[in-house]
Amino acid sequence: MNYKSLLASRLVSQVEGVSEDEIAELIEYPPNPQMGDLSMPCFKLSKQLRKAPQAIAEGLKEQWEAHPAFERVEAVSGYFNVYLNRGQFAADVLGEVFELKERFGSQNIGNGRNIVIDFSSPNIAKTFHIGHLRSTMIGNAIYKIHEFLGYNCVGINHLGDWGTQFGKLIVAYKLWGDQAAVEAEGIDELQRLYIKFHDEADNNPDLETEARLCFVRLEQGDEEALKLWKWFVEISLKEFEKMYALLGVRFDSYAGESFYNDKMDAIIEELKQKKLLEEDDGAQLVRLDEYNMPPALMIKKDGGTLYHTRDVTAAIYRNKTYDFEKAIYVTDAGQSLHFQQWFKVIELMGYDWSNKLAHVPFGKVSLEGAKLSTRKGNVIRLEELLTLAVEKTREIIEEKNPNLENRDEVARQVGVGAIIFSDLSNNRIKDIVFSWEDALNFDGETGPYVQYTYVRTCSLLRRANGGEGIELPVSSDALNLALLDDAEAQGVIKQLYLFKERVEQAMYKLEPSIVSRYLVDLAQSFNRFYHECPILVDDVSLRQARLALVKSVQITLRNGLTLIGVEAPEKM
Ligand code: ARG
Repeated sequence: MNYKSLLASRLVSQVEGVSEDEIAELIEYPPNPQMGDLSMPCFKLSKQLRKAPQAIAEGLKEQWEAHPAFERVEAVSGYFNVYLNRGQFAADVLGEVFELKERFGSQNIGNGRNIVIDFSSPNIAKTFHIGHLRSTMIGNAIYKIHEFLGYNCVGINHLGDWGTQFGKLIVAYKLWGDQAAVEAEGIDELQRLYIKFHDEADNNPDLETEARLCFVRLEQGDEEALKLWKWFVEISLKEFEKMYALLGVRFDSYAGESFYNDKMDAIIEELKQKKLLEEDDGAQLVRLDEYNMPPALMIKKDGGTLYHTRDVTAAIYRNKTYDFEKAIYVTDAGQSLHFQQWFKVIELMGYDWSNKLAHVPFGKVSLEGAKLSTRKGNVIRLEELLTLAVEKTREIIEEKNPNLENRDEVARQVGVGAIIFSDLSNNRIKDIVFSWEDALNFDGETGPYVQYTYVRTCSLLRRANGGEGIELPVSSDALNLALLDDAEAQGVIKQLYLFKERVEQAMYKLEPSIVSRYLVDLAQSFNRFYHECPILVDDVSLRQARLALVKSVQITLRNGLTLIGVEAPEKM
């Protein structure tokens, strides 16, 4: 049941010249229950109806006709407040949870239409760092949220597996590399070679020239260069996949930048035909002065292609292949200009789907206090971060629950979950300072806190009915849910009701933090209920009703955690 729409449908005939949807838009959830469960501020209607807000509210109250969903109404300071019938509300919301279970909160908005999500997309032979983690987890959540709302999602890992850097790496490897070392150390060793290349090139500019030529040879299909490149890709992928397994993330396609090698010529040709390319000192570019942007470089002086070239080509390919409703790109905000530039190029090419391209930028992550060992380079290595999180979590668990059976597994779920959650708990565009203390605080607004609340629901349900557990009746009718009329239980039910709306908002705003913050709200309201209202009481009807609420919270917490890619352990 959508209460805003229901209320709007009952008010529309009283408010001349305003549509039902507009009324629904006006209706709010008041911040505290003394101001009603739903409330319509009448201020915006004042001018149109030529009446004072309070007079409008009073008018609505006078005209109000009773309805079983609503208990009573009032007109206060220009607000028309509505109180729900608590028993009915409980039965309605819990009934929906039991009916839909793991689908509770879902909708069919997408109708199977395609959404392409380009996320994670780390660079071969370079460390998978904390920025890529953000892209991975934000992208993964956007994927799951869309899927939950009826879209068919295609997750693409646009690996950075092409570009001048491979010329450098090949040159470096041939000069100073050692096969055994690369095999043993993987990306770390490749990264070392890459850094050495730059150190040496500072004094020897010939190296840069050689690297450029080497990349051109690679683009032309030189066998030796290709073989080395393939090997670097394999080694890197093996490491990335370990990380994805740990995070529980998967992709539908690993078509990286190199996938477009044989597709770029046609696009360059098309750009030429559409008179968009301009030669500039031997290079080819698309001028964007008119749009206050620097030109988008498409072909370098030496004939090499660029990041832009590959993104334009990839977008055209994806549009043909997937006929997408939206194509989403999740990267740090530092790349915003890059995306604006090439989105514009697509538009100038005359493709009307350019408005379906969306860049989803996010802020930087830095680490508070003691730095993680950054042996090579100045990036935070994700693997170290995750390992440390799991270790720290294990220590906390050992202290809190020394007899826990599968401690390793739980430490992984909670440690990794804590990192993911902290990454997703603020508006994505905000820079975040990561702090261990905050992320692992079991009482804060954190992943462990939400997981711990979930564990609490599991343990209550296990202990219910003398250890028998609770079998919920198939229908909520068999329960007396009108007993859930106290403020705490109603607070929880309101949160359950809000889940669907929040998930939908998260999708439209491409903002997974809406779901994370929702989960904290739900957990907090449940814990208030838990502390105020004994659950395993003697009175059978009351006990069953409260257990039904616990069960609903359990289902909703799990659904929400799944959407943001955090696991839900049953004990911890
Ligand atoms: N590989 C890039 C990086 O690590 C991200 C790629 C994002 N996707 C894209 N289609 N440009 O910064």
